[in-house]
Amino acid sequence: MSATVQKEAEAHVNEASSQANSITATPTSWKRRLLARKKIIIFTMVGVVALGLGLGLGIGLSQAACTGAKPTSTSTPSPSPSSKASIIQPSVGTTWDYPLGFSLTTSNANSSTIFYPVDLENTSANTITALKNAGHTVICYFSAGSVEDYREDAGDFPSEAIGNTLDGWPDEKWLDIRNVKVREVMATRIASAASKGCVGVDPDNIDGYTNKPGFDLTEDDTVDYVRYMAETAHNAGLAYGLKNGGAIVDRVVDVAQWAINEECAEYNECADWAPFIEAGKPVFHVEYTDDDDATTVSPSKLSKACAADGQSGFSSVVKHYSLDNWIVYC
Ligand SMILES: *[C@@H]1O[C@H](CO)[C@@H](O)[C@H](O)[C@H]1NC(C)=O
Ligand SMILES: *[C@@H]1O[C@H](CO)[C@@H](O)[C@H](O)[C@H]1NC(C)=O
Repeated sequence: MSATVQKEAEAHVNEASSQANSITATPTSWKRRLLARKKIIIFTMVGVVALGLGLGLGIGLSQAACTGAKPTSTSTPSPSPSSKASIIQPSVGTTWDYPLGFSLTTSNANSSTIFYPVDLENTSANTITALKNAGHTVICYFSAGSVEDYREDAGDFPSEAIGNTLDGWPDEKWLDIRNVKVREVMATRIASAASKGCVGVDPDNIDGYTNKPGFDLTEDDTVDYVRYMAETAHNAGLAYGLKNGGAIVDRVVDVAQWAINEECAEYNECADWAPFIEAGKPVFHVEYTDDDDATTVSPSKLSKACAADGQSGFSSVVKHYSLDNWIVYC
């Protein structure tokens, strides 16, 4: 449900972006992806190796990030401890906004709002640097579990890893998150986030197994993928945040520095993310208005959005699905 909502928000963004840039999916790319819909053999060996590495490095990293302890000499060779030591850990209650549907700049940013995820591909390094210099914590958003046809690197995914079209979003298709090449594309995106100056990443759509991705994906695959991306981010000196994925919170809270949740109050799921608060990590929570043109929130909607069961300590806001510049802070 929540993932669908995010798709809706992204669709608005895509609409705006394709109008602005005249980037549209060509019939060729459509055909290529539709023909590519087939099951693949599970890369069991790769998964086992990746999980082993993920666990080994993950433990070392979480020690380094949480206690400042240096990784033990038994760790696999990895980037310098200094980059790990600099991984940010936002505190519980940090203020935020989710400006994926408009171009955030220092002119329209709120100086009291600290945590700002921005679109990785669509936000310049200059903008990111300026926002950081103005005191904001800037995170790079990308879709990790789907390919969006209009992305610059859309052609880098192997056809056998491209699955079903997301319901209602013909230019976006699920990915086989077990595929090594898919993971390499994500590693490249994470490196791009680091070189653009983001201090963390917000990889979306990690829980394809809850939908109909066209592959036999499981919850374990999602946990493995999240741990892989967290490790990759940490090795690049970046923080990692869990996006939605309530069912796996207990299994990945140790490697994530925050969680971003959409609509847990609407679906009475907020308690699923409470382990983040207990671990001293923020939960950035957004509820959506029914109407993208709404200029106010009803008292009943606001009290539900801001005081749902299990929501204590969350950083909660109400926004339009379009994730435009309209926001109500709890
Ligand atoms: C990209 O930026 C434009 C404005 O510069 C904005 O309208 C559009 O929504 C953005 N697209 C994405 C995918 O963030
Ligand atoms: C700026 O953000 C803070 C919290 O992040 C909020 O309380 C305040 O109302 C916002 N100001 C405006 C003008 O939106």
